[in-house]
Amino acid sequence: MGARRTNLALLIVLVAALATGGLAFGAGTGWGRPVLVAHGLAGLAVLVLAPWKSVVVRRGLARRSGAGRWASVAFGVLVLAAVAAGLAHTSGALAGLGPVSAMQVHVGAALAAIPLLAWHTAARGGARPRRTDLSRRALLRAGAVVGGTGLLLLAVEGATRLTGLPGARRRFTGSLPVAATLADPARIPVTQWLDDRVQALDPAPWRLRVRAGPTTREWTYDELDAFGDRVEAVLDCTGGWYARATWEGVRLDRLLPPGATGSVVVASATGYRRRLPLADAGTLLIATRLDGRPLSAGHGFPARLVAPGRRGFWWVKWVTAIELDPAPWWRQPPFPLT
Ligand code: HEM
Ligand code: HEM
Repeated sequence: MGARRTNLALLIVLVAALATGGLAFGAGTGWGRPVLVAHGLAGLAVLVLAPWKSVVVRRGLARRSGAGRWASVAFGVLVLAAVAAGLAHTSGALAGLGPVSAMQVHVGAALAAIPLLAWHTAARGGARPRRTDLSRRALLRAGAVVGGTGLLLLAVEGATRLTGLPGARRRFTGSLPVAATLADPARIPVTQWLDDRVQALDPAPWRLRVRAGPTTREWTYDELDAFGDRVEAVLDCTGGWYARATWEGVRLDRLLPPGATGSVVVASATGYRRRLPLADAGTLLIATRLDGRPLSAGHGFPARLVAPGRRGFWWVKWVTAIELDPAPWWRQPPFPLT
């Protein structure tokens, strides 16, 4: 494959990997599976294309010196780190190092590579599509690359199963059983979204404020804890692990007035918030207990949201306010920004 087609193919698979990776993080129910297969193919195609790219790289390195050259090398290091951490996670061979999971390294490296990808593409160019890229021969060659990538994906999956590595027990989201991921003695690790911090809240003055239109009702910890609604749910963290547990508390729809409309905003003492469809209120839980015991501070004491079928970043901790709002639930960034 020539240099231009190699670069073009890399551009396509990297953009595809970033897009499907982002989608995979939104997946909480079954539709995530095909997205993750597509992601695996896009990511592994980088390795399949590597022999051709190495020719381009050698020529480029021989021609250049200075900062641009090192920026290209840094870009290469980040992409290879993302692929290596992706494989370490997917196989479960090295799912975490101390407090950091392979998935966190994976996404961190991939996000850091984005500006360098934009720069490398703009500065080096050499990937302009041509009409002949759709010729029979070119398409056959592209098909061979896709086929080779498919075989590589099957080989990774097969080796993971044969060796009995934890990756064989991944969910359809790609997450591993919790014990395989982090060296944390607790059954469920404590992780926060970006800059969120664990809160130590005193339950005596704490109130859950529920606002629906002109009416506001404040609930105490004991009142909520007394409901005793129970749900078994899988907490599936975008850090790459999942844990099934029993949560107790009160179903969210019980705290709302009848005939409510709009969406439900669940807000934390930290300012973190998520907006959810009102139609889900019957399956959402404001939990005060985990496996029969009051929540720990790290898990959201006095009360946290349990959102079955949604990834961990929806499970707002240290909840202090619930508000009905006329805006539709999707009017928010797909992922929290802080
Ligand atoms: C430079 C961009 C990226 C590359 C090259 C890449 C590559 C890979 C590779 C090679 C794997 C292992 C796949 C397998 O063997 O089945 C993987 C897994 C994964 N990646 Fe990425 N990735 C990228 C970006 C992202 C981003 C931005 C996210 C999320 C925001 C993400 C989320 C995941 C997840 C959840 C898995 C686990 C899939 C599974 O175990 O089935 N990736 N990635
Ligand atoms: C996995 C993704 C990629 C990696 C790791 C990578 C890495 C590199 C490296 C290390 C070099 C040699 C140093 C230099 O010339 O600056 C290089 C050269 C080059 N790359 Fe990439 N690159 C990637 C994708 C792309 C893409 C998507 C394009 C096109 C849009 C591209 C176009 C070029 C060109 C034109 C050269 C210069 C070749 C020459 O001067 O003979 N690369 N790349």
